[in-house]
Amino acid sequence: MKYFISLLAVAAFLSLTACGGDKAPKAEAQKAQSNNPGGLTDFQMENGIGPVTEKIVLGDIDNAKVKLGEEMFKAKCAPCHKLDKRFVGPALRYVTERRTPEYILNMILNPDQMVKEHPEAKKMLAEYLSPMTNMNLTVDQAKDLLEYLRFADKEGRDKNIEADPPFRNQK
Ligand code: HEC
Repeated sequence: MKYFISLLAVAAFLSLTACGGDKAPKAEAQKAQSNNPGGLTDFQMENGIGPVTEKIVLGDIDNAKVKLGEEMFKAKCAPCHKLDKRFVGPALRYVTERRTPEYILNMILNPDQMVKEHPEAKKMLAEYLSPMTNMNLTVDQAKDLLEYLRFADKEGRDKNIEADPPFRNQK
């Protein structure tokens, strides 16, 4: 009986250490994968957190999409954003010069998680205080908005329009 109990103890000990030995390196490996704040991937640091998980290809500015985006902007975004002036949220002219297209799409499509988990969006929330609302847009609608913002930035550069900070290349 004694022998049996010590066998059991050895078995239990072995299974515990086997288990611990199995799990610990995995957790360590996962942590070691990212040195970024909150364990974000490099892609997420550059391009935001949300449904857009790959780089997108942008062509020349598409005027039909710009029109759709402009209408959507007036309806859904203008309550909080102006192009050239700080309002509830930041002035959006030149946003394409400080954020990647994918970051802008993820901010439009997934603002709640962005302001909780992305260091840049968190900084913005600390500055603007009210969180941007999720408007449940589709990826295509967000792309129309992106097209409008690309157009506005090009127009701003062509006509030398001043916008409130944060503007160009200010990350
Ligand atoms: C309820 C107000 C509100 C609405 C509506 C809103 N936003 Fe925002 N937006 C904000 C605020 C405030 C921020 C700054 C981050 C924060 O505090 O959540 C922001 C941040 C952003 C950013 C990030 C800017 C940067 O420099 O990183 C983008 C892009 C953006 N908004 C686009 C849009 C678009 C496009 C729409 C319309 C579909 C929209 N927002 C609707 C309030 C709003």
